[in-house]
Amino acid sequence: MSRQLGVGLYGAGNIVHDGHAPAVAAGASTRLAAVCDIDEARARTLADAYGGANIYTSLDKMLADPSVDIVIMATPNNLHRRDFEACARAGKHVLCEKPLAVTYPDAIAMARIAEEHKIVLKTGFNQRYLNQIRMAKLAIEAGLIGEVFSFRTVFSAKWDNWVDGSNFRWDLERSGGATTNDNLIHRFDMLRYLLDDDYAEVVADVSHCVIPPVVDDNVHLMVRTNKGARGSFIADRYSPVLGDATELYGTKGSLSFWTNAGSPFFDVPLAINTTVPMNELPEPIRKAVYPTARSKQNRHAWDGWLSIWPPRNEWDTYAEQLAGMAEEILSGTRDGIGATGFDGARATELVHAAYSSQIARAWVSLPLADNAPFAFPDFEGHGSDAKAGRS
Ligand SMILES: NC(=O)c1ccc[n+]([C@@H]2O[C@H](COP(=O)([O-])OP(=O)(O)OC[C@H]3O[C@@H](n4cnc5c(N)ncnc54)[C@H](O)[C@@H]3O)[C@@H](O)[C@H]2O)c1
Repeated sequence: MSRQLGVGLYGAGNIVHDGHAPAVAAGASTRLAAVCDIDEARARTLADAYGGANIYTSLDKMLADPSVDIVIMATPNNLHRRDFEACARAGKHVLCEKPLAVTYPDAIAMARIAEEHKIVLKTGFNQRYLNQIRMAKLAIEAGLIGEVFSFRTVFSAKWDNWVDGSNFRWDLERSGGATTNDNLIHRFDMLRYLLDDDYAEVVADVSHCVIPPVVDDNVHLMVRTNKGARGSFIADRYSPVLGDATELYGTKGSLSFWTNAGSPFFDVPLAINTTVPMNELPEPIRKAVYPTARSKQNRHAWDGWLSIWPPRNEWDTYAEQLAGMAEEILSGTRDGIGATGFDGARATELVHAAYSSQIARAWVSLPLADNAPFAFPDFEGHGSDAKAGRS
């Protein structure tokens, strides 16, 4: 039997409970070695649920445990940068939950420290592993929609939909933001991943409008990419809707998908409009096409639209992400999907630049300097202005 890697869970909160702990248990090449949380009872309950593991309330003690090869870091965001460095010095590989850090200088430093210490650092952008996203990537790479010059994406989630154990999201110092840095950052990563491109410029309106904690709850961004695409990102944290939609427009077709929820406007996990005939589609896409009104046999009969229903794998994405990382550690082979430390840094860079744009009320160019100054927008002032203007 090939070697199993010991995993230490750092932070025994919601996402570890729902995503990472089951992923460790499901993995053929991973086993649960330790759980560390400042709340010992929480760590113990989790370990007991998986047949036991070493329990720690201090990271240093867990890092001294030789049975731990990988640390899955799922603590409040402001702790990631500080604690990552200790992990790297101890020679542990790290799967760090998104966002990698609150500021771009911290995030890029983490990516570099990982290289220096020759450890594998992955950023927890698990949505890359969704089956509809894998197929969207395949469709774009196969040229089904041509060159993309325009996209738009939306992410709505009510602020009290997500119960977090430590309530860190509503404290800017600990979360770095409740909408931009929590939900929208998944899309910042996903669009650059799908388009194999980087952001060149951003202008943002990052505001607080409604919810009791004074954090970003209504966010609008426009970006331009290095390859010349233009796109918009919209997210809110006040609406009762859990909704999302992404549309990409190419020179030969278009593609739209949802990741978490199914609004009636976007009730197909992945829809592709292409003139490429059915028999020339990449096989995984052809197999997952749902013929609706017309026959699959007719080469051009679907008016260009393909409705694609891949098997759902929302919660399996955590296991697939971890399996990819374990394979990289054991054999040096990358799965080509998992987000690296540098990918994590690029996503954080757009959050950082969006805040800078809000403060300057102007377009901001990327890449940012490694020591770019960071500040939170004045959500108090901006929110009050927005409300006063509406009366
Ligand atoms: N990939 C995703 O879609 C996704 C989803 C949810 C959360 N996350 C990320 O996971 C991380 C945790 O989020 P959550 O919702 O599980 O939070 P949570 O509040 O439920 O859990 C955080 C845990 O960290 C522990 N903790 C706090 N300070 C600590 C310290 N100094 N030392 C040790 N433990 C400490 C808390 O006791 C708690 O158990 C965040 O970075 C978040 O952005 C990612």
